[in-house]
Amino acid sequence: MNSKRKVYFDNAASTPMLPEVLEKMRHTMQEAYGNPSSIHYYGRHARSIIEDARKTVAQSLKASIGEIFFTSGGTEANNMALLCAVRDLGIQRIISSPLEHHCVLHTLQYLTDQNIRVEYLHTDQKGHPSVEHLTQLLSATSESTLVSLMHANNEVGTITDLMKISEVCREYGAFLHSDTVQTIGHVPIDLTDLYIHFITGSAHKFHGPKGTGFLYINGDISIKPMIHGGAQERNMRAGTENIAGIAGMATALRAASKHLDAHETHLMMMKRHLMEGLRTQLSDVQFNGDQQQSLSTILSVTFPASQKSELLLFNLDIEGISASGGSACASGTQVQSHVLAHLRPDDPGTTIRFSFSPMNNIDEIDYLINRLKKVLS
Ligand SMILES: Cc1ncc(COP(=O)(O)O)c(C=O)c1O
Repeated sequence: MNSKRKVYFDNAASTPMLPEVLEKMRHTMQEAYGNPSSIHYYGRHARSIIEDARKTVAQSLKASIGEIFFTSGGTEANNMALLCAVRDLGIQRIISSPLEHHCVLHTLQYLTDQNIRVEYLHTDQKGHPSVEHLTQLLSATSESTLVSLMHANNEVGTITDLMKISEVCREYGAFLHSDTVQTIGHVPIDLTDLYIHFITGSAHKFHGPKGTGFLYINGDISIKPMIHGGAQERNMRAGTENIAGIAGMATALRAASKHLDAHETHLMMMKRHLMEGLRTQLSDVQFNGDQQQSLSTILSVTFPASQKSELLLFNLDIEGISASGGSACASGTQVQSHVLAHLRPDDPGTTIRFSFSPMNNIDEIDYLINRLKKVLS
């Protein structure tokens, strides 16, 4: 890496780890090397770290300890929820949205190939799935149904009204899964009053490590293991646990929960400043998603088509600014985003997702506005 200024605005793809997370993980790897399934001191010590972490995750969601299962991240947790629901709950039909993350959409495609009926909700221009359409589909048949709708979209940031979706599902007796990967650690979630069966989290989206996440399974339903082997995770997911990752995730979630309000204020201030700067200093920019109901961490901007905007992401990178063109999880090479193709069909403009963390500051936003002006002029 050269010494040029570097600014990281791709936090929806992954976040830097907090110093206390790194320290917790280093310490855990050094001290807690016993196998958590062993009954001697070292095993019990490692086990206690995992169970403390489970308690932290459960408390932050107001769930029971027995409802939290650690996984290798959001992808595994979402796969597990959908596949286990079909296998163990007698699901005949899944209702979802075309704007879900690929780890949900591709699992739904797999299930379609296995003769499970999948229906996709209409969405509005801002990325909200239609509650009327959901109601209509649920009232049309009495088939056993799972509704799978993400809490917040990872490309445009629109937040779904999970409470409303949950009420409709309760009314029609449908099971509900929500991919909460972009909201855990960012938006308060209280499961006490929510009628919901599965939610998922991924540590690297809230300043924890990659390769660690969790699945919440409502205690009222009974699910069988998806990975077979040892009795880890109360027989639900075999394999020696990623103790350092789990400990790091709990540390990150504790920090996120503690500072949630202060972070939200700081993030909103930066996001508004960027919107204002882009509106007043560049022409014809458009913001994607629902700005009234959106993550403070994401701003998706469409720039008018031009030779310069085509190379925008590349030129920003040269200026030291890291952002994302589509969903980084799906790319590496730039592929057309299914979310933008759906929300902005045939739009020739260039869309960039800027995503923030509390570690960013207003000076970096000003730098971004300044560089955008330079690159586009
Ligand atoms: C909404 C959403 N769901 C799931 C995932 C996958 O999570 P993980 O990277 O932990 O597999 C991502 C990652 O970008 C995401 O944004």
